[in-house]
Amino acid sequence: MRVLLTGAGGFIGGVLRRRLDGHELTATGRRPGPGLSVLDLSDAAAAARLVRECRPQAVVHAGAVSKIEPCEADPEGTAAVNVAATGALARAAAEVGARFYFLTTGQVHAGDSPPYVDDAPGAPLHAYGRQKAQAEGLVLDAGGPALVLRVSLCYGFAQDGAPPNFCDELRAAFRAGRTVRAFSDQRRSMLSVDDAAELVARAVESGLPPDGRRRLNLAGPEPVVRSDFALAFAEAFGFPPALVSVSGSRGMLAAPRPADCSLDGRRLWDWTGFRPKGYRAGVRALVE
Ligand SMILES: NC(=O)c1ccc[n+]([C@@H]2O[C@H](COP(=O)([O-])OP(=O)(O)OC[C@H]3O[C@@H](n4cnc5c(N)ncnc54)[C@H](OP(=O)(O)O)[C@@H]3O)[C@@H](O)[C@H]2O)c1
Repeated sequence: MRVLLTGAGGFIGGVLRRRLDGHELTATGRRPGPGLSVLDLSDAAAAARLVRECRPQAVVHAGAVSKIEPCEADPEGTAAVNVAATGALARAAAEVGARFYFLTTGQVHAGDSPPYVDDAPGAPLHAYGRQKAQAEGLVLDAGGPALVLRVSLCYGFAQDGAPPNFCDELRAAFRAGRTVRAFSDQRRSMLSVDDAAELVARAVESGLPPDGRRRLNLAGPEPVVRSDFALAFAEAFGFPPALVSVSGSRGMLAAPRPADCSLDGRRLWDWTGFRPKGYRAGVRALVE
């Protein structure tokens, strides 16, 4: 299958790129890298042009400004990437008849009425969530075959030059004997990045859900608060739990976070025939 992947230099995109390697893959990133074509998503017209040139059968859109603070600090600049480019890519995919798979976030929800089903309407608390919710609408209105995947918080170590993430930071701090603050008021259906990529790849290879659903949650089976995840991580790696300083996040972050974004991911597991690991097993697998 001819597949165009954006965000291939990122955390999930990097793993997806390896998983989709058997396909005729055009992998794009913001910066050049081995096997990566450069695509700057702040240029929506260039993004659409690339789709028309490649004429893929599937577009997997994993490129984004994925952190909350930069979206809060520069909502317009980041919307060019998170909203405008997503809409342009989805419309170009519709033009060439490609299926479009969009990685959005469980943080389109306010976090006050979990667990969220696949089609639950969003009520975002921050700019990043609002951008993703708006982009979901553009994808579904583009007129082509499309699937919106609402991704929950993924964990794992950064690979292939992707920037360090919270697991890398936890491990580095614990190794140095430093205490790490971990929030007790954010619950997420966390899943390993490998399992997330496997679910995306299986969706791409399966087509579109036979029940006609156009939004599916991509989530782990065992919602967990971030501080419990950090404690499980410390335990699995043999570090003292006292290195985890548990606290609430109120007043500590530039943008408020939804409290509980637990997502019901069963439809995607059933359709793709793949059930991700719970976080305890996932953390143990990181040690091996
Ligand atoms: N990881 C999670 O837990 C999680 C949870 C929910 C949803 N998601 C969503 O899943 C998708 C993939 O997430 P991720 O964790 O892999 O994020 P990531 O590591 O930040 O990867 C996103 C990639 O997009 C690239 N990008 C940003 N701006 C760009 C631009 N102007 N032009 C071209 N590329 C640009 C980034 O490049 P730079 O590194 O150069 O900035 C990065 O390589 C995103 O849509 C994210 O919002 C992720």
